Formats: sequence, C-alpha cells, structure tokens
Amino acid sequence: MNPGEFVVVNNDRKIESMVYLLHLRNLFSKALVKMPRDYLVKMIFDRKHYTYTMLRENGSVVGGLCFRPFVHRGFAEVVFLAVASGDQVKGKGTLLMNHFKEHCKRDLGIKYLLTYADNFAVGYFKKQGFTEEITLPNNIWKGYIKDYDGGTMMGCRLYEHLDYRNISESLRDILQEVKTTLDNPTATATIYPGLQSFPIDDINSIPGLENFRTEETWIFRNGPGALETQITSILNAAVREPSAWAFREPVDEDLVPGYHSVITDPISLAAMRTKNEKRLYEDKEDFRADVRLMIDNCIMFNGPRHDITKRGQELVAFIMPKIDKIVQYATPDSVDNSEFRKRQRT
Ligand code: ACO
Repeated sequence: MNPGEFVVVNNDRKIESMVYLLHLRNLFSKALVKMPRDYLVKMIFDRKHYTYTMLRENGSVVGGLCFRPFVHRGFAEVVFLAVASGDQVKGKGTLLMNHFKEHCKRDLGIKYLLTYADNFAVGYFKKQGFTEEITLPNNIWKGYIKDYDGGTMMGCRLYEHLDYRNISESLRDILQEVKTTLDNPTATATIYPGLQSFPIDDINSIPGLENFRTEETWIFRNGPGALETQITSILNAAVREPSAWAFREPVDEDLVPGYHSVITDPISLAAMRTKNEKRLYEDKEDFRADVRLMIDNCIMFNGPRHDITKRGQELVAFIMPKIDKIVQYATPDSVDNSEFRKRQRT
C-alpha cells in the first residue's frame, strides 16, 4: 500500500483489512466519544458497510468515513466519519469528504449522499455542501437508512461534471466558462428582465433561457436544464400526488395475480425514474409515451370505469401539462450550431 493514499476497507476477513478496521475502531471511539462502543464496532465490522480511509504519508490511519452504499438506488448513507483528534480542523475532513464523493460518483455511480449529522457537526456538513432539504425522493431512501435521535438529517447531491478531487480548479473552470459565455456578445445579445423572485419553482420560468444556445455550457447537458433533470422534477411531483398510489411501484404479481399475463409491457413511475436515470428518454415524447402506456395498461387491466383508472386519469392529467412545458435544450450532438459558429467568427 502506498503512503498518503485513500483506501476502501471492508470486513472481507483479510488480515490487512482487519488491521485497518482495528485502527479505525480506535480512531472512531476516541473521536466519537458519545457513540456507544459496541454500536460503533458493529457498524464498521458489518459487511454491508465500508470505510473510506485516509492514510498518512507513513501509511497510518488519519481519518475514515464509514458508509453503506445503496448502488441500485443511487445513494449512499454516511454512517459516521472522523479525523484523528490531533489532525482536526486542518482541512483533512474536507479532503476526506471530497475524495469520498468522487469515489461514490465515479466508481459506484452514486448521485446522492444522506446522513444523520450530529448536531454539533452540522456546520461541517454544511461546508461540504450538505443541506437539511433532502431533494432525493422519500420513496428511494425511506426505510433504507438508519434513524437517529438527536441528529439532523442532511443530504448532498453529487454532480457528474464536478471533479471533487480537484474541486477548486473544477469550480474555477465553471466560473470561467460562465464568465466567458456572459462576456460573449453572441450569448448576451438579448437582455432579459431577470428573475422576479428567488428561489424559483420551475427552471423554465427563467426569462430567455429557452432561447439560449451554446455548444459548451454544461447546464444543458448536466445542469438544471437537462432533459433528465426536468423529467426527474416531474416524477418527484407525480409520486407525491395522492392519485399516484397505484402507480408508484411496479405491480406485484403476488398481490395482483395474473397481471403480467395480461400486461406484457408494464410501466410504473419507479420504472420511468430508472429509465430516466439511465438517460433512456431521448426526448420528452419518449417520456410522454411511457405515461400513456401506464394509463393504457391500467385501462386494459381494470377497465375504463374502475376507480384505479379514474385515479390514473387524474395522475395523467397532472403530468401531461408538465411534459408540455419541458424545454428541450440543445445538446452538443443535436444543436444546429451553424449560425452560432458563424456569428462567433465575426
Ligand atoms: N462544527 C462546525 N464546523 C466545523 C466542525 C464542526 N464540528 N468541524 C469542522 N468544521 C468546519 C471547519 O472550521 C472548516 O471551516 P472553514 O472551511 O471555514 O475553515 C470546515 O468545517 C472544514 O473543516 P476541516 O478542517 O476540513 O474538518 P476536520 O478535518 O476537522 O474534519 C470532522 C471534520 C470529521 C467533523 C472532525 O472535526 C472530527 O473528526 N470531529 C469529531 C468527530 C465528529 O464529530 N464526526 C462527525 C459526526 S456526525 C456523522 O458522522 C454523521
């Protein structure tokens, strides 16, 4: 093992891992004095948990973050973390978190972190980008993560385009990109009135955004303007609707025997979310087709007058106008940039 590295340690019964886990147990029990020792040991030795471990130059352990990944659900629970007492408040906790974020994003495909922060550590988590507002829908994480008394639930979205291991450079590049774009007269030829209030509910309400096209700007690929993000916000709103109760999760054959012999192409809001996360919707009409399929399946199985069908129709009536409002921004592959390039040269 090279010194100064980050390693992921798990109770895989290898001697090397056991040595790290024992060092981590000692570090955690000194730093997390209020945490019962047997609970702490149970967590770090639990085979479903992993500890993202930061080593000193000499290879000894300087900090660790115990986590449980829920890869198929796209999030990870930060169970606890600590830096050795003599090394705290020197930036190591930030370094540990940034490397951990990049590991989650790049190696595990995880897009969201959740934690119950000890109340005295809330300030640290806020500085790492965690907020008390959890934007990950409840149905993805509820029942999966451990509940704590006396802690504050916090979440942090991970952004694909950010390199968390070089966060300062990454943010500087984005700011530079925004500045260059704003300074470019082709992008700022029309001055729009700006936001009337903030925060906004709907990205599409930003004046002029619809007409803004640039080849380079990340917002159209990964940011709030991306098709995926707009569909996510529709699905988030849809699952909260009372009429969605029968449509949130796939129909369970055990509860509804014979469903799958009648409905050969089933679809639920959860299945749409998975497709969207995999970016399988090429445009909003693809997404609309799935919403139609959902109600068509419902009518076929239950009949047009059934109560579930009525709820389904209410849900579809809720979703469709939102699909109409999706603004499909150009991506570098699809945009016709000929005019943009021409103007740039002049
Ligand atoms: N409360 C408020 N702010 C804090 C705290 C805290 N407890 N700890 C650090 N910060 C601030 C720092 O002042 C710094 O602010 P700045 O950027 O304005 O200078 C910023 O957070 C980053 O600090 P780092 O030096 O990177 O953090 P550090 O190396 O001290 O690691 C950690 C933070 C892990 C919380 C460490 O202090 C520690 O081990 N504490 C004891 C154990 C603990 O409380 N763990 C968290 C329990 S909750 C949970 O695990 C879910």
